[in-house]
Amino acid sequence: MQRVLVTGGAGFIGSNFILHWLKRESSSVINFDKLTYAGNLSNLRSVMAEERHIFIKGDINDRELLAKILESCQPCAVIHFAAESHVDRSIHGAEEFIQTNVVGTFNLLQEVRHYWTQLEGDKKRSFRFLHVSTDEVYGSLGPEDPPFSETTAYAPNSPYSASKASADHLVRSFHHTYGIPTLTTNCSNNYGPYQFPEKLIPLIIHNAISGLRLPVYGDGQNIRDWLYVTDHCEAIRTVLNRGSIGHTYNIGGESEQTNLDVVKGICSVLSCLRPGPNYESLIEFVADRPGHDRRYAVDISKIHQALRWSPCESFLTGLRKTVRWYLDNPDWVQAVTSGAYRDWIDLNYKSESGRAMAHGR
Ligand code: NAD
Ligand code: TYD
Repeated sequence: MQRVLVTGGAGFIGSNFILHWLKRESSSVINFDKLTYAGNLSNLRSVMAEERHIFIKGDINDRELLAKILESCQPCAVIHFAAESHVDRSIHGAEEFIQTNVVGTFNLLQEVRHYWTQLEGDKKRSFRFLHVSTDEVYGSLGPEDPPFSETTAYAPNSPYSASKASADHLVRSFHHTYGIPTLTTNCSNNYGPYQFPEKLIPLIIHNAISGLRLPVYGDGQNIRDWLYVTDHCEAIRTVLNRGSIGHTYNIGGESEQTNLDVVKGICSVLSCLRPGPNYESLIEFVADRPGHDRRYAVDISKIHQALRWSPCESFLTGLRKTVRWYLDNPDWVQAVTSGAYRDWIDLNYKSESGRAMAHGR
């Protein structure tokens, strides 16, 4: 039986991807994840007993373990999600981001190179390494700028985006220099089930349901292009199956929204699904994120024209599904918002001096 190796498969997008993949493909998934604060095996409860899902706890910096897994499992593809993924955390401490996103990607590439070099015939020809990256590598757009295309120059502004940009360059170089059959996807902001409530949409849903303030950074006019996570998973599957080796593909939702509109949109969906409180009265403008990128927008012409992919969900349909999922899964939210999560909230929101220090004031 064919197998794919997924790194970071216990995180938000990785777990959605595994659930999506197992429904649509016949091959098995080896899920390799370190289980940091962001990794959560309960996301995969419905497939934990399935033979086609094998979980291995490990760090992408553990070269020996990676080599053993590649050798014994003989995957036909590696799909690389594992990363530190939260911009605010990268501002408070960038080291883990360099260690996992840059050094970890390098270590993974080295082992994949070693594995791929030894393959022969069809196995070698059909092998793929797909690197999951972000639109944030392109930096920040002005209000009138055209959306990011695959040829937009890289200009990362946060330690997170700089670490992802470094990884993208390493992947590019391993294709160019060693011939590794790579694919890279640069996607816009995702939202949907199983997203850790440190990111905007799940944090606002969680706070609104709990009657807590809804923190909006700065003037709330920063723009993101939102994509429902299942649409991203399908785009990755499409690129893996039909993308051209060595190419990069931008993925987005064609759905630019200001943060304030996103927060108000969540309040409005909640007012329908759980009427009662005046959710919007909880909105509170708080100190801005240092170096906060103003606008992201993604041009999806290439993936649409070459591979016929486009998103199925609109922002409204995706947001309704997402809010409904968080309302229906209070146990999941309860489990992830205890313990270390509270320390994070204290650090990022309660300690204004912590944020002021980050501003250098
Ligand atoms: P996430 O933080 O929810 O999950 C990351 C996963 O990686 C976790 O399960 C974690 O345990 C695992 N991990 C972290 N360090 C590891 C290591 N050293 N070795 C093995 N596993 C490790 O992230 P996400 O939101 O699911 O994002 C997945 C990928 O997609 C990332 O590469 C991210 O940069 C990219 N991406 C995310 C978005 C988004 O909006 N969330 C958008 C575009 C691209
Ligand atoms: P986030 O979900 O962290 O994604 P990213 O920084 O990768 O785009 O944030 C999305 C936007 O929402 C970003 O402009 C920062 C803003 N934001 C808030 O206004 N309040 C919050 O509490 C959070 C977490 C984010």
